[in-house]
Amino acid sequence: MAHLGAHFAFRSRWQRTDDELCRHSMSFILHKAIHSDFFQSYRYLLEKIPLVKLYALTSQVINGEMQVYARAKLFYQEVPATEEMMGNFTELSNPDIRASQEFLRKFVGGPGRAGTDCTLDCGSGIRRVSKHVLLPVFNSMELVDMTESFLLEAQNYLQVNGDKVESYHCHSLQEFTPPLGRYDVIWIQWISGYLTDKDVLAFLSWCGAGLKENGVIILKDNVAWEGCLFDLSDSSVTQDIDILWSLIRKSGLVVLGQEKQDGFPEQCIPVWIFALHSDGHF
Ligand SMILES: C[S@@+](CC[C@H](N)C(=O)[O-])C[C@H]1O[C@@H](n2cnc3c(N)ncnc32)[C@H](O)[C@@H]1O
Repeated sequence: MAHLGAHFAFRSRWQRTDDELCRHSMSFILHKAIHSDFFQSYRYLLEKIPLVKLYALTSQVINGEMQVYARAKLFYQEVPATEEMMGNFTELSNPDIRASQEFLRKFVGGPGRAGTDCTLDCGSGIRRVSKHVLLPVFNSMELVDMTESFLLEAQNYLQVNGDKVESYHCHSLQEFTPPLGRYDVIWIQWISGYLTDKDVLAFLSWCGAGLKENGVIILKDNVAWEGCLFDLSDSSVTQDIDILWSLIRKSGLVVLGQEKQDGFPEQCIPVWIFALHSDGHF
């Protein structure tokens, strides 16, 4: 196992002093803890971020919650429930929405494709995606986000179509289990990086089980050029495409289609969109 490898790499120092011995057995424990939270990306993260700092982010608990989640919650509590919440991404909203609308069209409506009855927007924020991409296509929708102020703002932002929203779930995704077989499309945009790999995997698997026949999960997110980028301000991780593919493979979902977002400025981090479906083994 990888963590044993790391433990044995310190073999020459094991005998030096009790103190050192203690430190090295500690690093063994830290290594194990990190491995279980960020198990796809942990080797890369270990190279970039000191072990102790990583341990705090993944395993230290604040108010009963892992620090990595507690920090994101604190970050979003301070964010106004307006389009400004997208920060540097505000100007990217239009090309993002256009590309998402086109991508969605390929997978819904018509024989063998997802239906247009019910959709779930995960990490819906101020419902940018719900309003422009999902509401024009689906008869009803549900929203899930951990930030209450964003959900409260829903009716204003969605205006006349607000009555299509059947449920507002104020939950963290890592604690939310979509009902079985309920949705035609589950949309997960700019949110997967807030979950540990372990929780992304569990959530994707639950989403697979939450789909109707021919249902599709749309996963859209930033993709790092290489390895992982940790953003300490909002506690998010951006992973490279190999790590994402490997997570998707592990979740048991199948990739129906994938595209790199066009029309963003050159200097922007790449954004990819995936259509995933369940092979029925949930
Ligand atoms: C960058 S915004 C994206 C909003 C929306 N998906 C969009 O593309 O416009 C991230 C959203 O994820 C929510 N969020 C972050 N971590 C979360 C978690 N663990 N569970 C549920 N929601 C979370 C935040 O409250 C925020 O609304």
